[in-house]
Amino acid sequence: MSCLSIKLPGLDLKNPIMPASGCFGFGREYAKLYDLNVLGAIMIKATTAEPRFGNPTPRVAETNAGMLNAIGLQNPGLEKVLSEELPFLANYNVPIIANVAGSLIEDYVKVAKEISAAPNVHALELNISCPNVKTGGIAFGTDPAVAFEVTKAVKEVSEVPVYVKLSPNVANISEIAVAIEQAGADGLTMINTLLGMRIDLKTGRPVLANGTGGLSGPAIKPVAIRMIHEVSQKVSIPIIGMGGVQSAEDVLEYLFAGASAVAVGTANFVDPFICPTIIEELPYKMHELGFEHISECIGRSWKQHAKIAYSRT
Ligand SMILES: Cc1cc2nc3c(=O)[nH]c(=O)nc-3n(C[C@H](O)[C@H](O)[C@H](O)COP(=O)(O)O)c2cc1C
Repeated sequence: MSCLSIKLPGLDLKNPIMPASGCFGFGREYAKLYDLNVLGAIMIKATTAEPRFGNPTPRVAETNAGMLNAIGLQNPGLEKVLSEELPFLANYNVPIIANVAGSLIEDYVKVAKEISAAPNVHALELNISCPNVKTGGIAFGTDPAVAFEVTKAVKEVSEVPVYVKLSPNVANISEIAVAIEQAGADGLTMINTLLGMRIDLKTGRPVLANGTGGLSGPAIKPVAIRMIHEVSQKVSIPIIGMGGVQSAEDVLEYLFAGASAVAVGTANFVDPFICPTIIEELPYKMHELGFEHISECIGRSWKQHAKIAYSRT
């Protein structure tokens, strides 16, 4: 047994580290740099029923502790993801978590039904929290009743476990998390980006063509830790945590807060080797702190022995 292996619904992870959706595309660029087999899982870019060009440019801007983006769910569409991207990823022995997005509940249902039937998709991540699209996206993730409805509709058609991605742009995140658990979700992923903005001093206009964008990177880590710490005590389904993770120490902080696995997003743009580096360093950091297996770390900040649904492999 590896000290990093962990089982979550649908996911038999050799380690708890995975690239976050939208920060790794469909893996093709990173596959030229390292062997993707080292990863615990891969969360692929959001897939919508039809191809999307996304928002007008400029759609990314740097900030002091991260970045703003308003990509607007650019992706090649369901058909291409099924016929080209997933078969490419089938060359690797890595569980795939397919990120599903849409404008209407029917869109989510269509994509979820078809993509969950792909042989190498092990779980879905429902993106009901994207701040950069006008319809759907965040609108689903900020109202507990709507979040319940979309989760339930997708659960009815999905062939694999469903994780729902929470938006931090809400007053009461636990209320949404509990509604999603009641709708039958198998897990949560959290958090998506925080709504933000930058202004160009020369023009007086917003830097992003979209006006606002989603803030990611180290600036949002304390927000994510607070939210995971809170939500993990209110639900019994596991959480995959994300937001500003850059090191093995950050991963342990997430696990202590109550996450059962951790995704790395923006840091991939700073250092494309960040995931394999963290995977290599994690056992040393864990053993330094006196832990033999990562399961001992989960929820450490608020309990001695985790009750969350996971098991050692
Ligand atoms: C450029 C970019 C594109 C993203 N695209 C998606 C997406 O398609 N679907 C999604 O659920 N989240 C998307 N996200 C959010 C990330 O998956 C992640 O939740 C967020 O960036 C926080 O993690 P980080 O601070 O490590 O980047 C995107 C983030 C960035 C920076």
